[in-house]
Amino acid sequence: MRETVISRTSKGDVEIIIDKGIDTGAEILKKHKPCHVLIVSDDSVYALYGDKTKTSLEAAGFMVDTFVFPHGEESKNIDTLNSILEYAASKEMSRTDLFVALGGGVVGDITGFASAVFLRGVDYVQVPTTVLAAVDSSVGGKTAVDLNAGKNLIGAFHQPLEVLLDVDVFDTLPDEIFTEGLAEAIKYGMIKDKKLYDLFKDNDIDSLDMIPVCKRCIEIKADVVEKDEFDNGERRLLNFGHTPGHAVEILSKFGISHGHAVAIGMVIMTRLSERTGEIPQGSTDEFIEVLKKYNLPTECGYNNKELTAHSKVDKKRKGSKIGLVMLHSIGKAYVKETNVDDIERLYAIGLNM
Ligand code: GLY
Repeated sequence: MRETVISRTSKGDVEIIIDKGIDTGAEILKKHKPCHVLIVSDDSVYALYGDKTKTSLEAAGFMVDTFVFPHGEESKNIDTLNSILEYAASKEMSRTDLFVALGGGVVGDITGFASAVFLRGVDYVQVPTTVLAAVDSSVGGKTAVDLNAGKNLIGAFHQPLEVLLDVDVFDTLPDEIFTEGLAEAIKYGMIKDKKLYDLFKDNDIDSLDMIPVCKRCIEIKADVVEKDEFDNGERRLLNFGHTPGHAVEILSKFGISHGHAVAIGMVIMTRLSERTGEIPQGSTDEFIEVLKKYNLPTECGYNNKELTAHSKVDKKRKGSKIGLVMLHSIGKAYVKETNVDDIERLYAIGLNM
């Protein structure tokens, strides 16, 4: 069943359409007159959905060019960004033209940033093809590329014209890519919605109905973005599990994917919340069982010293305080401002030691 969520932003309302079998060209034509479109994608996604998307856009009257780069986080850099921009310029695209981000988080982030800076800003449409992009990165207008010094260090807030989520694409996702997105989806239950958490608890990977799940996650994200689009307060709650998670990602040299690292990070923060008396005893064990149902990892081999070293590097540029997201209860989170020097002690409490 087709669902629409509205994300209210400083640039106006952004529609997020969730359905099966979306005709991308016909859908975009409802929002944008025929123009020159640049589809930006990675080689894995383009091989599956590139031709279909291009044909659909051409059938709707758009003139289409494509820019495809190698998949993976390593491509999310200034060189790829530069190549996209040079390519768009070489095709004489104008400010009334449109970029389409066809892919997961890397494609969405880099295409969004390219469209934020090309000719000082052109429209773009997000067409997420992973669960992670669907429930998180395609919504809310954060765009970025990585620097050698760290992830997402340059970027812009630039809202998409719309988001077109065709859940049929999930059928072709490798298990690991599918489940890493589920970690971010379960996160919304943990921080904002006990009913959503219970839905994950009462189902398993085979029985989950992705349209209502994505709809609820996107509603929560849109609500958070409406209250704090520029990430000064409430939006920080979306980082539940991410501070230790980023450390896990880096320590594993990205061998543990973002979503899987976040699952491990969420367990650490849930256990910390339990052991400091905020949530009932047994909550962490229950949460671990939920994550296991979705084939998600729940622990890592790293100790608190290793995790702390990386979290400190990650946070150095942000000052002496780290905002750790803690739980008041399952479904209710808050940011605890912590001195960086205290983080090792807190991780030790959160780890299963
Ligand atoms: N992915 C976190 C955020 O959009 O703020």
